[in-house]
Amino acid sequence: MCGIVGAASGRDVTPILIDGLKRLEYRGYDSAGLAVIDKKCDLVLRRSVGRVASLESICDSVDGSTGIAHTRWATHGKPAEHNAHPHISSQTIAVVHNGIIENHQELREELKEKEFTFRSETDTEVIVHQIDWHTQQGLDLLNAVQITISELSGAYGLGVVSKKEPGVVIAARNGSPLLIGLGEKENFIASDMSALIPVSQKYMVMEDGDIAKITPSSVEVFDRQGNPVERQVIISTLSDDETELEGYAHFMKKEIHEQTRAITETLEDRLGSKSVIEMAFGDEAQEIFDRAKELKIIACGTSYYAASVARYWFEEFGIKCDVEIASEYRYRKHVVNEGTLFMTISQSGETLDTMAALEMAKTLGYSNTLCICNVPESSLVRASDLTIFTHAGREIGVASTKAFTTQLVTLLMVAICLRRRKVGNGRAGDAMEAEIVKELRSLPQMIDNVIDLEEDIISMSKHFGNKEHALFLGRGAHYPIAMEGALKLKEISYIHAEAYAAGELKHGPLALIDEDMPVVAVAPNDELLEKLKSNLEEVRARGGKLFVFADSQAGLISDEETMVLNVAPVNNYIAPVLYVVPLQLLAYHVALIKGTDIDKPRNLAKSVTVE
Ligand code: G6P
Repeated sequence: MCGIVGAASGRDVTPILIDGLKRLEYRGYDSAGLAVIDKKCDLVLRRSVGRVASLESICDSVDGSTGIAHTRWATHGKPAEHNAHPHISSQTIAVVHNGIIENHQELREELKEKEFTFRSETDTEVIVHQIDWHTQQGLDLLNAVQITISELSGAYGLGVVSKKEPGVVIAARNGSPLLIGLGEKENFIASDMSALIPVSQKYMVMEDGDIAKITPSSVEVFDRQGNPVERQVIISTLSDDETELEGYAHFMKKEIHEQTRAITETLEDRLGSKSVIEMAFGDEAQEIFDRAKELKIIACGTSYYAASVARYWFEEFGIKCDVEIASEYRYRKHVVNEGTLFMTISQSGETLDTMAALEMAKTLGYSNTLCICNVPESSLVRASDLTIFTHAGREIGVASTKAFTTQLVTLLMVAICLRRRKVGNGRAGDAMEAEIVKELRSLPQMIDNVIDLEEDIISMSKHFGNKEHALFLGRGAHYPIAMEGALKLKEISYIHAEAYAAGELKHGPLALIDEDMPVVAVAPNDELLEKLKSNLEEVRARGGKLFVFADSQAGLISDEETMVLNVAPVNNYIAPVLYVVPLQLLAYHVALIKGTDIDKPRNLAKSVTVE
């Protein structure tokens, strides 16, 4: 992934680049760097390991009106200053790169024969030397980049500057998102528009194969064949409103607490008094839903768990639904039944594997493509027939929380729309739909009530601070909720956490149970409760310690071996949305005890735009 920002301007661009990088840190944050062409037409390079703030501290004296910058999430080569971008060649050309160059090894050998010296272990460094080589053969920067990208295989978003052409930034895109921001007598590039909020409201999206030459007064874009092309100018709706901590210690905590509002906004205008208002999903929704006899849902990470919960809803409503991780889906053969709707779920709308799965799906005969997404100006949204937005607001914590619960309520509304076609109630809805709608309306209040359990969850979290492993159990739609709970804990507390369908316990994980392996379980009062209780007894019988979030009427009580936190009774369909909230809070408070970097856990990134 990594974040790119670049600028060609009449003023000093260093503060613009630094500010842009800070906004892009969610894409990677293990090192950062920038290169600017200064007033003497020298190439000035600054790089540092760690956050953008440490780069900023070494950039005081940097002043130039053309530059590129990068925040890194390591793929090739460990996080270190020499591997940080930009990479340079002959003290003349600098390159920032997002993506992976697959043929970098063979290019590296060729370039070594041409006596280029490599200073990093990155795949990116071949790009800058290759461009340098072509300029040495007499090409200008644009043409040198053009030839170089024709020699690369893999994915890239590129920003390139040369001290021989001050005032010019070259950008190229293939498989990794890149935008051109338009300003007043200055123009920019960025991997997404959030980097440019203070300096530009207008932008163009580069398409795969595009290369662009940007100066303070002009933007020229060429397609893969080298033909000049016009790309649509879009007005951005992004603003800075949602990026403050507002008194919370971490964005993750703020975002957990914001779920009440986020769910309210996601439901707003989409629920009638007794039914879901299908028209609220857009003009095309009705026809797309009419055609959908089956579903294929593709996603990654937390979004995949949202899809996995929704599968239970769809199938309960009689709609065949298959759910798969994008990185697996991409690389196998598919048999697509007629009338299968292809659905992607993504907070960011930029996850590369999900995007690539969608592009592949478009060639396979699905009835339509539908995306559930939180970011309006994102690649997945642009590439899908229909998008239903979650209105979670900007999510900054790397560990996803409010995006997940808003995805779930959106999926439940879609499931209800498809159910109508099965039960033959036309657009009107029926008593069961009215009941779910009623429960959805009371969900924000129920979430508030669960958040009120925070003090008890803090007490519970103290049992995890010195543990190295934890097991999460659930059954039915709460099995993926257990997976999401385990994911939260491992992401931010670095405790190894695994989720099991509780019925599978006896087929292996029971061997791990002892007093050092806390077992977390979610126990709503559904038709699987009695089965789950037996599974919990199996844990107790082996001396395991249980931490259970249970329906207050489930008949589970605390004792020496078991700590039970009661959740108010809730409708079965709504329960997964509610039960994930205490798991989010548990992970948060365990991480707090462990003193980890909660909003930016080690080795991770918010948006994963590499394979
Ligand atoms: C990264 C994030 C996760 C997220 C996943 C999928 O791994 O850290 O929080 O669930 O990507 O992202 P998406 O934006 O497609 O939902």
